[in-house]
Amino acid sequence: MTNLQIFLDIATEAALAAGVILQDYLGKVEDAITEKGRPGDLVTAADKASEKVILEILQRHFPQHSILAEESGKLGDQTNEYLWAIDPLDGTTNYAHQYPCFAVSIGLLIQGIPKVGVIYEPFHNELFRAAAGLGATRNRRPIKVSRNAELSRSLLTTGFAYDRRETTDNNYAEFCHLTHLTQGVRRGGSASLDLAYVACGRVDGYWERGIAPWDVAAGIILVQEAGGLVTAYDGTTLNIESGRILATNAYIHNELSQKLMQISPLSSW
Ligand code: IPD
Ligand code: CA
Ligand code: CA
Ligand code: CA
Repeated sequence: MTNLQIFLDIATEAALAAGVILQDYLGKVEDAITEKGRPGDLVTAADKASEKVILEILQRHFPQHSILAEESGKLGDQTNEYLWAIDPLDGTTNYAHQYPCFAVSIGLLIQGIPKVGVIYEPFHNELFRAAAGLGATRNRRPIKVSRNAELSRSLLTTGFAYDRRETTDNNYAEFCHLTHLTQGVRRGGSASLDLAYVACGRVDGYWERGIAPWDVAAGIILVQEAGGLVTAYDGTTLNIESGRILATNAYIHNELSQKLMQISPLSSW
């Protein structure tokens, strides 16, 4: 078995264990919801319990690796060749309202590049997995991006960062324009599932600003292995720490990139 396959299997074990916790806590976290210093930026007991089990499993199997986890922050040397980027509950706002669109996202960056990704959506029991060169799957069956090549016939998805109320750099202009130019833009509320849905062809593209590495590390390799493209807004190589991401089925990539470049005021880059 290759190392990547081992990493994928252990990440799967961790994501499935975390998913059980999320399902157990669902509907029972009302007393445990707190805001992280910004209105609307929630964290629940489930976020923390999920992260705890993921850390236990990954640290037991890979004590030499480092971790970047949403709730625990930076664990170990962040320049380590192996860095796990973990979102224990992606879609906390949905989760707190029992809106069934949330997931566990576990990605492995090797020398800064996403190479392994597992996204588990426990409510509908959907397991998305990918590793570099090993393909992308949904519930163990291969998946592919959509083949739609026209932006005007596309369904897109996006999201809005928690600081949207305090800044004009809030994605509202892009959302309005692209709603006009396409068959629709969804705001699912879980960046990792947005990427998983690009990978399995449910949507044709996804963009967002203000995202963190743990939101997208797993989804990036999933989209790439499903035949899609992931870049910066302008089509150049993505810097996972830049906060901005464009992921598509590859066919609409140039057109969507051009629109984003026109709409996003250059001053806000
Ligand atoms: C958020 C979700 C949301 C996205 C935000 C993320 P969280 O993650 O992925 O869809 O728009 O930018 O922060 O806080 O629910 O893990
Ligand atoms: Ca997240
Ligand atoms: Ca989260
Ligand atoms: Ca959060």
